[in-house]
Amino acid sequence: MTIIVTGGAGFIGSNFIFHMLKTYADYRIICVDKLTYAGNMSTLAGIMEDSRFRFCKVDICDRAKIYEIFEDEHPDIVVNFAAESHVDRSIENPEVFLQTNILGTQVLMDACRKYGIKRYHQVSTDEVYGDLPLDRPDLFFTEETPIHTSSPYSSSKAGADLLVLAYHRTFGLPVTISRCSNNYGPYHFPEKLIPLMIANALNDKPLPVYGKGENVRDWLYVEDHCKAIDLIIHNGRVGEVYNVGGHNEMANIDIVKLICKKLDKPESLITYVADRKGHDMRYAIDPTKIHTELGWLPETKFAEGIDKTINWYLENRKWWETIISGEYQNYYEKMYGNR
Ligand code: NAD
Ligand code: TYD
Repeated sequence: MTIIVTGGAGFIGSNFIFHMLKTYADYRIICVDKLTYAGNMSTLAGIMEDSRFRFCKVDICDRAKIYEIFEDEHPDIVVNFAAESHVDRSIENPEVFLQTNILGTQVLMDACRKYGIKRYHQVSTDEVYGDLPLDRPDLFFTEETPIHTSSPYSSSKAGADLLVLAYHRTFGLPVTISRCSNNYGPYHFPEKLIPLMIANALNDKPLPVYGKGENVRDWLYVEDHCKAIDLIIHNGRVGEVYNVGGHNEMANIDIVKLICKKLDKPESLITYVADRKGHDMRYAIDPTKIHTELGWLPETKFAEGIDKTINWYLENRKWWETIISGEYQNYYEKMYGNR
């Protein structure tokens, strides 16, 4: 089996590649990644010499290069993680989100049509459903919940999802889509809530909480997400959407306080800053479908996952210190300087 994994130098894509190489001794993995600010070759350093692995520095929007890879490799499956993924950046500059997340998806699916494929899998997000109110804890996103987006990021992901379903209905492309809640774990880029708070706390820097910190996210350990995608590409029904989430809702402020406690840092580092524009209040996934159809359940409890994650950031300081010492400085100043 040959699998193209796009965006494999990023957070979830790299974890997925490690999972697949560990689980299937005879699979070949081709990682296609443009290496934007979010892609990191040091993440993949340990597998570069593995004969089952090939890395291609290619933009998924580059039709000619993508077609070349398909001609060379004859992939059986494509799993598309490649995306601009940060909501705050999409508020600053939406355009690249539409390019990569929608047009890049189109190029990949055109290649799948041209060369033939057993499965095209789109890695999507629960953010396509918009948000839920805090005072209705009985409500959850199901696969039937209408698409109703808030940010340019979630709109671009929703646009891609609709295109994927259209390629299935119109051209018969064998697609599946997973919509997952917030992930956390190793190799998470330090602009996102959990790694940013860990890195700042370790450096005794202010911990910038948006608004009142009441917003709720449904956190899933990254390995559980990778296992869900593994199940879907092998056993999921073509044309279907699967929600992935662990019933682990937490308010941002509680996560930040927990990180302070675990790292033995004072809560006085917490700084409330201006809220995100259009900030989604609550995300909560109903994972009944993937559980009943494919037997998936999250395996890592949050208490265990957050310890593993914090330990990983403690043991891999070089990985994130290299990132935050570079171009990231300018980003941080721009996004948080006057907030
Ligand atoms: P990330 O930002 O860490 O990684 C994205 C990767 O895609 C990077 O390696 C980057 O270099 C690459 N990339 C970006 N533009 C590209 C292009 N034009 N061509 C080729 N490669 C390109 O993102 P992540 O958090 O790992 O998310 C991966 C996917 O999962 C995304 O599609 C995201 O929407 C989805 N998702 C993420 C979460 C989460 O909590 N992080 C939750 C649900 C779904
Ligand atoms: P983030 O990790 O960006 O994921 P998403 O917006 O895709 O859910 O943010 C998670 C939550 O944390 C979100 O409610 C915004 C909030 N947040 C902060 O309060 N401060 C920060 O510095 C960041 C990056 C996020």
